[in-house]
Amino acid sequence: MDGTGMTTISIVGAGNLARGLATRAVAAGYEVQLLIRDPSKGEKLVAELGTAVRVSPLDGGAAGDLVALAIPYAAVDRVMSTLGDLTGKTVIDATNPINETFTGLVTEPGASGAEHIAALAPNANVVKAFNTLFAGNVVAGKKNGLPLDVMIAGDDETAKAAVADFVDKTGFRVIDTGPLATAATLEGLAWMHMQLQFTRGTNFQSAIAIVD
Ligand SMILES: NC(=O)c1ccc[n+]([C@@H]2O[C@H](COP(=O)([O-])OP(=O)(O)OC[C@H]3O[C@@H](n4cnc5c(N)ncnc54)[C@H](OP(=O)(O)O)[C@@H]3O)[C@@H](O)[C@H]2O)c1
Repeated sequence: MDGTGMTTISIVGAGNLARGLATRAVAAGYEVQLLIRDPSKGEKLVAELGTAVRVSPLDGGAAGDLVALAIPYAAVDRVMSTLGDLTGKTVIDATNPINETFTGLVTEPGASGAEHIAALAPNANVVKAFNTLFAGNVVAGKKNGLPLDVMIAGDDETAKAAVADFVDKTGFRVIDTGPLATAATLEGLAWMHMQLQFTRGTNFQSAIAIVD
């Protein structure tokens, strides 16, 4: 909770996925802090989503207990060192470590970007989440009238519960895939889903769902 009695989520980035996360967070009553390298680029989202969104520089200090990474994976090393002290924070890693040509992942087989990020922020708890959804679907919040599945992976149960609470409150369905070691599979799944856009012609509109 912040001084206004509302809960704040900090989102790093102001691009497509950040817009989706911010849209759903504001709709659910959260305050949103955008941590971005060029604060002028956040004004578009402030104009779109209102005064619940505020903009800070990358080194402005994360106000939220939840800090969502919505930046290119290639930028995480530099950005994590710029964000400052994340002790006790829950870092939502929504990045996908895709190579520049979209032909594969930059990570070694079995390794994940999420575990690399966890190593960069040893005093924070990293939870992989939202990487398997396309940004347009996150903005919309539902697909064919149904809640979308957000797969989450993490080692710290308290942090995972905090992310699950955010996922739930923002109108998605939580699918817990287990420890952070499963993030590599989630990153591979997201990559495969991107490839399916070309083979199935679904134009980044499809969504991965678990049907019980
Ligand atoms: N788009 C999707 O459907 C989707 C879905 C799931 C996961 N993801 C993942 O989410 C992340 C963001 O994707 P996106 O589509 O939202 O990208 P995007 O629209 O290109 O936005 C990227 C954001 O990151 C910032 N950024 C880029 N390089 C940076 C750097 N070196 N230092 C600091 N900030 C930097 C950009 O700021 P500037 O405007 O200043 O460049 C922008 O705010 C990626 O890891 C992607 O794989 C995306």
